Amino acid sequence: MQQHFTSHSADLAQPRSFPWIADGLALGGDYSPEQWPEEVWQEDVALMRRAGVNSVNLGVFSWGLLEVADGEYDWGWLDRAMDLLHDNGIGVNLATPTAAPPIWLLQAHPEIATVDQFGVRTSQGGRLAWSPSSETFRRFALRFVRALAERYGSHPALRLWHVSNEIGNENARCYSDETAVAWQAWLASKFGDIAALNDAWGTAFWGHHYTSFDQVLPPRHARTSHNPALLLDFERFTSDALLGHYLAERAVLREVTPDIPITTNFMVMNNPGVDDYRRWGEEVDLVANDHYTIGADPERHGELSFSADRARGVAQGRPWLLIEHSTSAVNWQPVNRAKSVGELARNSLAHIARGADGALFFQWRVSSAGSEQFHSGIVPHAGPDSKIFREVEQLGATLRALAPVVGSTVERARVGILFDWESASAWQAGNKPTRSIAYLDLPLALHRALTKRGIAAEVVRPQEGLDGFDLVLVPTLYLAAPGVAEQLTEFVRGGGHVLVSYLSGIVDEHNRVITGGYPGAFRELLGVRVEEFFPLFEGQTVTLDSGESATTWTELLRTEGAEVLSSYATGELAGVPAITRARVGDGTATYLATKLDAPGIQSLVDDLVALAGVPPVADVDAGLEVTRRVSSVSPEDSFLFLINHTDAPLSARASGVDLVSGVAHADAVTVPAGGVVVLKEKR
Ligand code: GLA
Ligand code: GLA
Repeated sequence: MQQHFTSHSADLAQPRSFPWIADGLALGGDYSPEQWPEEVWQEDVALMRRAGVNSVNLGVFSWGLLEVADGEYDWGWLDRAMDLLHDNGIGVNLATPTAAPPIWLLQAHPEIATVDQFGVRTSQGGRLAWSPSSETFRRFALRFVRALAERYGSHPALRLWHVSNEIGNENARCYSDETAVAWQAWLASKFGDIAALNDAWGTAFWGHHYTSFDQVLPPRHARTSHNPALLLDFERFTSDALLGHYLAERAVLREVTPDIPITTNFMVMNNPGVDDYRRWGEEVDLVANDHYTIGADPERHGELSFSADRARGVAQGRPWLLIEHSTSAVNWQPVNRAKSVGELARNSLAHIARGADGALFFQWRVSSAGSEQFHSGIVPHAGPDSKIFREVEQLGATLRALAPVVGSTVERARVGILFDWESASAWQAGNKPTRSIAYLDLPLALHRALTKRGIAAEVVRPQEGLDGFDLVLVPTLYLAAPGVAEQLTEFVRGGGHVLVSYLSGIVDEHNRVITGGYPGAFRELLGVRVEEFFPLFEGQTVTLDSGESATTWTELLRTEGAEVLSSYATGELAGVPAITRARVGDGTATYLATKLDAPGIQSLVDDLVALAGVPPVADVDAGLEVTRRVSSVSPEDSFLFLINHTDAPLSARASGVDLVSGVAHADAVTVPAGGVVVLKEKR
């Protein structure tokens, strides 16, 4: 049966359904036949069929091989590749190859390239060199996109448009003169008149008063830190400029090929110049995300799970596509760790467990030349007789057995984590009390503590609406967007429970401090008042009277209505409250003023979960990651994903049929060390 998915893209008059891009869960990756002689292509498709590959991203960086000179096209090789893939039953996500402008274009128009803060223009030799504000680039790119769409729009292999590649990754933040003009226009449309900008930005500081928008330059090198309000708006402008490029390509594709769905690959954990992927998510037919684990991070599978929950949040709960991850090592970390046996499947299936309807890899066959020649792929340099190829083959068999999962949605969690990259941008803009706190630290730590207990969470933007949540976590939400504090207060009054951490609600949407005591936006709800920050040096630890320890951050705080849960027992602030709780209406508002170590985070999370009465997805042994997807066709059917991250067998008290082995389990199932089990449950 052909599966479908529904697009809610903002440019469509109403939601519309498109055929799913593969037969079952998508498996495959970036395929670059142009890097190999055509004899190799035959081996490629034979191996693809063997591994169960049903979907490839094609042509991603091949503009220079397709438009070989200005207006001169060579489609031959791509025609043959499209036909060959189609003949072998492999669907194509065809890229508009605008991520890599041809050498001839960069030489004829060097002004299309980004300029850095020091005025240095990016040269040829990389990719994504172009500035999203370059009109010349836009003109050439759209001309090519139209030619591509006209040529392949009705090719039977074409399933999905893959617009450019990781927009922003290597072309975020351009400081050129052409960008300056676009930035000034953006500001004029945001503020209306210059007095409003002066007021919002607080330009009395250092007398940085502007009398017209054309005086406002991009934040070029200035030897001291720029105004944090300007920096934040420049991030927003950058994000809009990048999105503008995507929208321009989308408009051409929609016009020429209205029946082909459109996406672009996001990087939701990196946000390269993209301030709000949640908003970008409204502009694609299918949310697609790239994810790479950080080899040096011992908790990398926790970061992966967070990323997948965030991708689902960007997709507003609907199925999404993991359009890139790696079979093993990448090539851009200081040490590129190979994945251990079984890690590939655990990684792919963890994304699927959290709502992905496929797992594609960068890349199919590892390049022998070029800057990514040591990046893993499905077919390594050693060839198919290899650990990696065998593991992908095995994954292919698993995914075939999991085909019924396609289109199901992850059961809505009762815990919400408010997450907003604007907060990161605001926090990173300018000098701050410490450089030792990264925006992602606490969201990841809380998510990990929930996952350890089998508790599911949604990662949502703060303005989203809190219906259905019993517990809402607000980790280091530095910027409080308008309405967020009011919404949280309403939620607590109605019986909800919230945790707000240090460095939340400190500034408003203009990156201006909310005065009267920290955390300004949430002070009343929390019943506390912070007078002064006391950040700690690396290596400094404080102990709480509960026995927990903390580092990095402390605050001189007094309660104004909240009860004290624990106080510092050591250090300069001994006796000062560190964790407090206010009872408001039928709910509670807990404040965390310090950076607890992992055991402290775990006990705080355990306490909050008990307070809010949130049950785990299933009763599982510690170390077993558990999630549930619910069928959209028959809601009594669901799929329980159990992933064992340890080197010992673990069990879950659950019943259902193992989709891979076919074995029925009446009340408990054991997941082998490092293994994954997916049960089809009847509820
Ligand atoms: C110097 C400068 C001041 C201020 C302080 C901050 O002393 O003269 O304007 O920037 O540093 O420490
Ligand atoms: C990104 C890019 C790919 C490739 C990989 C390498 O995800 O989209 O083209 O460079 O990184 O990890």
